[in-house]
Amino acid sequence: MRLDVLRAIAGGAGPVAACALVLVASVAAPRRVRADGEPEAVSAHERCATRLSVALLGKSATPALLASTEPQTGVDAMLTDPAFIERFASFTNAQFNPEPGETALTDSAYTLAKFVLAGQKPWKEMFVGAYAVTDAVAPDPNGLGYFSSRAWMMRYAGNETEGYRISSAYRILQNTTGLQLTATTSVEGVDRSATGRQAAACAGCHYQGWFALDRVAKILTRRQGDGATMKFIAPSEGPQQILDGTSIANERELVTAIVGSEDFRFNACRLAFKFLYGREETTCEAPIFDTCIDAFKATGTMQAAVSAVAKDPTYCQ
Ligand code: HEC
Repeated sequence: MRLDVLRAIAGGAGPVAACALVLVASVAAPRRVRADGEPEAVSAHERCATRLSVALLGKSATPALLASTEPQTGVDAMLTDPAFIERFASFTNAQFNPEPGETALTDSAYTLAKFVLAGQKPWKEMFVGAYAVTDAVAPDPNGLGYFSSRAWMMRYAGNETEGYRISSAYRILQNTTGLQLTATTSVEGVDRSATGRQAAACAGCHYQGWFALDRVAKILTRRQGDGATMKFIAPSEGPQQILDGTSIANERELVTAIVGSEDFRFNACRLAFKFLYGREETTCEAPIFDTCIDAFKATGTMQAAVSAVAKDPTYCQ
């Protein structure tokens, strides 16, 4: 599968050397004292408490956290707070969908994220959990996280003429691995059919690469009809070579392979990082990802990933 850009670059000597320089500069900065004569270390703890509380809970720190000399030890307690669960579920929903759903029913990622976070369940249950997701979550042995929710399937059914769910294929890959592609609207002389999509201007996304959207769509159910009567029929074209040339026969095999991959773990940490920092990571931050991925591997919960990033010394420096 894809080798992530960050991991690829972080291996090189250039960016690492640049990071070390930044570090030296910050160490060499003169130490300051506050007006009341207290050394800066005290206000650094307060700043840390405030930063954690605002990022995790969306509110200012409690007096107890402000008074703590080690506010990062309070992180795990904050991760069980309903305010964190609500905040992270909304964040997830915004990352997984290009815009908010028209109804709460279609924001299935939000609904299931709240359930998964509240139960401290492995994050992969978002995508492979045996649930039926409507505006609530119920057990369903045939469920495949929110990907099998009818409202979600209709939202991303797309309008491809043969009923191939290219739009769902892309959303599944984006939500699980963070894949980012910008759909090409049209190219003169190329029609939008399956044959048209084999043209050079289209094949790079539709037939080639580990994410080949048309190949992925071929193993998903196919859309039939429109509106309330829309149906989804079983795929009929046999297994496809996708991901790293793996033979994949259906959606369950696809998502199961992805949630077992390093790309999936990396993306979970990327979500945790972006939630806490409010921005994408830089190459200097690769070591935080190593810590996060190790922690995430152990329990598989999003709390483990967020905790690793929030408790890293760099978060409060
Ligand atoms: C850079 C990658 C990329 C290229 C190049 C590309 N597409 Fe796509 N295409 C996408 C993505 C991503 C989607 C899914 C968009 C979505 O629904 O969110 C998509 C979806 C589609 C769909 C399905 C739309 C639907 O609603 O079901 C068609 C048809 C399509 N592309 C045709 C083409 C054609 C024809 C070309 C060449 C002229 C092309 N694409 C080139 C990325 C690409």
